[in-house]
Amino acid sequence: MTDAIRSNRARASQVVPSASVATQMQNARRPQALQRAHQRQARVAVAWLLLAGLFLLLSGTVRAAPLPTTAAADDANLFEPIRTVVQHPRCMNCHVADGVPRQYDDSRPHAQNVHGGDKGFGVPGLQCSTCHQTTNAHEAAGPNAPPGAPNWHLAPKEMVWVDVTPRDICLRLRDPKTNGGKSPKELLHHFAEDPLVAWGWAPGGNRSVPPLTQDETAAAVEKWLDAGAPCPKA
Ligand code: HEC
Ligand code: HEC
Repeated sequence: MTDAIRSNRARASQVVPSASVATQMQNARRPQALQRAHQRQARVAVAWLLLAGLFLLLSGTVRAAPLPTTAAADDANLFEPIRTVVQHPRCMNCHVADGVPRQYDDSRPHAQNVHGGDKGFGVPGLQCSTCHQTTNAHEAAGPNAPPGAPNWHLAPKEMVWVDVTPRDICLRLRDPKTNGGKSPKELLHHFAEDPLVAWGWAPGGNRSVPPLTQDETAAAVEKWLDAGAPCPKA
């Protein structure tokens, strides 16, 4: 070691005590500063919790979608045949509120962790169209190959048919605010001619079909609409 280095070292060790006094003074102030920082963090955390709560509340509201208008009592049970169709698994499995398509006649959650995402078409990287084409898979692909129809995606949340009462479905179907802005005529047209709806009666594989044919369903819808679209009490 050269003398120059040695004397530098000595000088350095001399300044250490004064530096450590400064550090001690800082340390003495630190608990208060730390406490303030912690309080700030706690406030931020509370704010986030409130925000998260608000979000849950709001998304809960969207899910439960306020029930629309009232309707005349359905004394003649005109809605029941329609209900048996829309709550058949071939129809209901796409009409969910939680973004998870259902499968098979027991309406279990779709395999592969599929989720509809924001618009019902899937999430980035796993769109419905990755597997579902515009027509059913060829018969040769076997009964469990993905079925298909043009524009395959989940129905909007407000058109929910899973785990809701017949009255709830009826009120939603008759109200343009919750049926996609459809007039009674457009609603009838949708039941009678929409390609995605038509798939429910030609689902491919060994899949079962709704209890009424598409024509019978359209006729039942027309009768119900003509009577003023009455709804069951529950
Ligand atoms: C990874 C491939 C894949 C993706 C992605 C996918 N599906 Fe499927 N889906 C299938 C297969 C395969 C079947 C047929 C299963 C069977 O019948 O055994 C099926 C069946 C269905 C059925 C018929 C259920 C029934 O039994 O009535 C619906 C409805 C459905 N999928 C909706 C969707 C929707 C909506 C999306 C997008 C949000 C989607 N799927 C994304 C592979 C997929
Ligand atoms: C692959 C998914 C899928 C299947 C299966 C499906 N739907 Fe839908 N449905 C949708 C989508 C998406 C919409 C919204 C599109 C629109 O409004 O034009 C919708 C909307 C509707 C509407 C509009 C009014 C409303 O309030 O719900 C009716 C009626 C309807 N579907 C009837 C049926 C019937 C009946 C079946 C079975 C025979 C069926 N759907 C099967 C996806 C599906």
